[in-house]
Amino acid sequence: MTHSGHLLSTSLTSGDSSSPRIVGGHGVWFELADGREVIDASNTAAPLGHCHPEVIEAVRGAASAPVLNEGWTWAEREQAADDLIGTAFAGEDWVGAVRFFISASEANDAALALCQALTGRAPLTTRERAYHGGAGLARELTVQPQWHGGLSSQAKGVLAAPRLATVHELPAPRGARVTGQPDPTADGGWIDQARADLAQSAAVLIDYSQGGTYHTPAYQDQVAGLARESGALWIADETVTGFGRVGGWFQFQYGQSRPDLVTLGKCMSAGGAAAGAVVMSRELLDRLDGTSWQSYSTYRSHPVAMAAIRAHLRISARDGIYQRAAALDGYLLDGLSKVAARHPSVARVDGRGLHWTVELHGPDWRDWRGQESLPLASRVVGRAMEAGALIATSGEQTSLFIAPPLIVTEAEIDAILIALDHGLDLADEEYAAHAG
Ligand SMILES: Cc1ncc(COP(=O)(O)O)c(C=O)c1O
Repeated sequence: MTHSGHLLSTSLTSGDSSSPRIVGGHGVWFELADGREVIDASNTAAPLGHCHPEVIEAVRGAASAPVLNEGWTWAEREQAADDLIGTAFAGEDWVGAVRFFISASEANDAALALCQALTGRAPLTTRERAYHGGAGLARELTVQPQWHGGLSSQAKGVLAAPRLATVHELPAPRGARVTGQPDPTADGGWIDQARADLAQSAAVLIDYSQGGTYHTPAYQDQVAGLARESGALWIADETVTGFGRVGGWFQFQYGQSRPDLVTLGKCMSAGGAAAGAVVMSRELLDRLDGTSWQSYSTYRSHPVAMAAIRAHLRISARDGIYQRAAALDGYLLDGLSKVAARHPSVARVDGRGLHWTVELHGPDWRDWRGQESLPLASRVVGRAMEAGALIATSGEQTSLFIAPPLIVTEAEIDAILIALDHGLDLADEEYAAHAG
């Protein structure tokens, strides 16, 4: 276990690497303690970049609010709800109401528990290699082997916390646009089992990016249809993809189907404060009529979070930030195709808008057993840093992800690709040595 003084540390980048010491930031740039500036190439919590002056101003203003728990009425909470539904969900007439949370983990836990209460069913469904957070039922549906909240070591393997829920895993639509892998769910061979799983489940929770899995609208519509016919509720986890990460406010909007619930977090407050949300359909809201949702937390809907969310919505709508990923999708597709073609160590590249995953040849993610001293992906990140971009791994040994702030320019994307290219030289050297 690494620690810095008395502070225990964990990281997205697996292995015993010393993460860069960050002392400041502006736009897409991190300022490091050693005086360098590097592009922040993987940060889905920073859609507007670092230290946006209007977000800072909103947060400063809200710091003078009284100490309020979730139960008190505070006008800005109602305004934040109206802004969210009126701006990000504009035209989505099926939407009924929103409740704010402290994180997406918490929002997912609350949404799943609500579905269990409404359906009287306990089992839950997600898709393989999903990540939905680290708390409560969200942690149960985080089926990536490295993120169960237990301990891991190379010598002892994974010391997992016991599972609390029955969780079914649907196969994932893992086609890849760049490297051309076919979608294993395209033949529909999984549907009978999925129907049986969903017939027992309170809900199916799907996110759209984790584990390098980028859903097709057809997959979404199929899962949504199966959920409806089986009496399970469908929750779209837009923690990563919401607010323009793929272009347009939400990924679910690319399909025909519409969810019962949407969960949000991460980028909602543009880094100004901790925030998450559960957005529910009118239909579900009607089903809650005459009940009260028996849960409460001290810091949910904090005035600072409400102010930051409102500022983010205002800026994103005004400056068209939520549309930028759609405009840059082709640029990244082209750039990453060229990078992938140059590097034999690259096994798979897929993505949408401004969220892309590069998977390297190496240990299969299913065989993840614990931290290596410094896994391949982390070594590639270290090499890429020399060329000026901080790229993240997703906790596995061979996965890198690229998701810069939505304000990134084409020139800055070029700089990220150059750094990635430089980093992948190291992976190629190891790949060649291994093959030889
Ligand atoms: C798809 C998805 N859902 C939920 C979460 C949990 O969010 P938080 O870390 O804010 O609890 C994450 C975090 O990475 C995520 O990627």
